[in-house]
Amino acid sequence: MTEHYTPGHSDNATDFMARRSLHSHGQFFLPFLKQGIEVLDLGCGPGSITLDLAAAVSPAMVRGIDFGPSQIQKAQELAQKLHVPNVQFHLGSCYQLPFPNCHFDRVFAHAIME
Ligand SMILES: C[S@@+](CC[C@H](N)C(=O)[O-])C[C@H]1O[C@@H](n2cnc3c(N)ncnc32)[C@H](O)[C@@H]1O
Repeated sequence: MTEHYTPGHSDNATDFMARRSLHSHGQFFLPFLKQGIEVLDLGCGPGSITLDLAAAVSPAMVRGIDFGPSQIQKAQELAQKLHVPNVQFHLGSCYQLPFPNCHFDRVFAHAIME
């Protein structure tokens, strides 16, 4: 499916999203997290929330997926800068996930269905 992402990925919009954290924007998800479970973050953007998810379930792997190349690049840079080993970012669409069915214990999605 081809989709146009209307808000775009300007530096301004990306910086705005990168200030988000799991605690500021994902409180609803905290009761569903525990160490060792695998989590997918759909439409992860620049990855700040994804990295918090990784901290919450470490050492299990968290994967973020986004169809914005600039978002995946920013997310990977942030993970390297903060030395987060248990996170991987994937360029791709939520409509065609490059993972096997039933692979994840939890799937997180924030601010993607606008
Ligand atoms: C408003 S941002 C939210 C980013 C992050 N979840 C957050 O809350 O900070 C929405 C993100 O979803 C991504 N996105 C929207 N539709 C998508 C789709 N069909 N597949 C993959 N990514 C998508 C956009 O590229 C954008 O980075």
